[in-house]
Amino acid sequence: MLNLAAPELLRTQLFLAGEWISTAHSGRVVVTNPANNERLAELPYGGREEAKLAIEAAYQAQKQWANVPAKQRAALLMRLHAAMLAHQDDLAMILTAEQGKPLAEAKGEIAYGASYVEWFAEEAKRLYGDVIPSLSNDSRIIVMKQPVGVVSAITPWNFPNAMLARKIAPALAAGCAIVCKPANATPLSALALATLIDRCGFPKGLVSVLVGNTQEIGHELTTHPWVRKVTFTGSTAVGKQLLAQCAGTVKRTSMELGGNAPFIVFDDADVDAAVRAAVASKFRNAGQTCVCSDRFFIQAGVYEAFVAKFADAISRLTLGPGWEDGVDIGPLVNETAANSVLELIEEAVASGANLLAGGKRSLLGDCFVEPTLLVNVTPGMRVCREESFGPVAAVMRFETEQDVMALANNVEVGLAAYFFSENIGRVWRVAEALEFGMVGINEAIISNAAAPFGGIKQSGHGREGSKYGLDDYTEVKYLCMGGLSS
Ligand code: SIN
Repeated sequence: MLNLAAPELLRTQLFLAGEWISTAHSGRVVVTNPANNERLAELPYGGREEAKLAIEAAYQAQKQWANVPAKQRAALLMRLHAAMLAHQDDLAMILTAEQGKPLAEAKGEIAYGASYVEWFAEEAKRLYGDVIPSLSNDSRIIVMKQPVGVVSAITPWNFPNAMLARKIAPALAAGCAIVCKPANATPLSALALATLIDRCGFPKGLVSVLVGNTQEIGHELTTHPWVRKVTFTGSTAVGKQLLAQCAGTVKRTSMELGGNAPFIVFDDADVDAAVRAAVASKFRNAGQTCVCSDRFFIQAGVYEAFVAKFADAISRLTLGPGWEDGVDIGPLVNETAANSVLELIEEAVASGANLLAGGKRSLLGDCFVEPTLLVNVTPGMRVCREESFGPVAAVMRFETEQDVMALANNVEVGLAAYFFSENIGRVWRVAEALEFGMVGINEAIISNAAAPFGGIKQSGHGREGSKYGLDDYTEVKYLCMGGLSS
């Protein structure tokens, strides 16, 4: 079992309307460690009724919270930020145990999640409106920003702390209440965060965290008339379904959906820098991020050098349980995830791609896939058309800038893209032509609280982080004040 300094962070109840509760429903959420299949916890199974109660409590709490001055909302968020950092080691241990990522990455995720809380605590005080020059002296045009109201958040297993923190923080900063449904695979991190929220002194009911029947809870969170906004991070397929459910009550939505990021290296690039970035971007969280590089396009002039160095760097990565020292890559979240990554590799090899590293399940366990390098990949292969969500780099050679731009943009999604070039003209041309919401130029680790995270096309809409992230939780209200002439 986990050796935590604050064992009370390991919660096995739901956080509903400010109370820790169990339910009478028959199901259980069983949480297992993907590195060794150890059973970590069994949680009660929330459903439609719990979701309704949480929404009703949020509705009441939000009315009060919207009237709490921004400075006080900010102070409570800063308290949460401090609590997250004070418990960083324990939160990271819980995260590694249920999700698999190496402990150093898990600690990084807690700091990353906390940075959104700090950022939005600061932004809460800057929720400015506008005064717009009026068309007549008789009136004034004033714009104010108001909280959207009750928000529901559905969050994924790949960043069980940070994805939740970056939804809860702007919601609370803007004056909203929030009902959260974290992934059933990794609920312990969410409940640990809820424990800290509970301690910080936020009003009861302002935040609830439910796990259990995903269909029932998800349905209530996307159809209840009192929920005014749904924020989701996850796959494009599920995002489309949630959007359809939200349509009936015309809810605001923010959708952070799938990607299939191109990583382009031009002949004029610094190849060593590109290789370092390729490893960091591809193998972060074992390839299980929606901004991980998937499709590597390397220009003919640097192709051989890049591939040789990339293969060498990959061969030096250490696979293992996240809590062991020196581990770079942990297990995938479950066996199903590992199987689908292995299928992509098998299909690519059967269609003519060559393996330069990895390619197999590791003897370490069912969820471990070796870091894999495939070359001679072609755009028609599934590994190129689909987001792999695993430790697989698919490499293609290209000749001209025109060719690679057509290939890079030829996907239905548009989340993140990366390219390496030292030519200033090309940098601007390519940055502007890439049809993606985020572009890394000579840089592949781009996520941070100050920047707007989000995609275009079927990667979704809305932005998280930055000054834009708060707008997603506010409504613009226009006041026309007339009769001002004497
Ligand atoms: C994600 O994969 O959903 C988020 C990754 C990030 O925040 O960098």
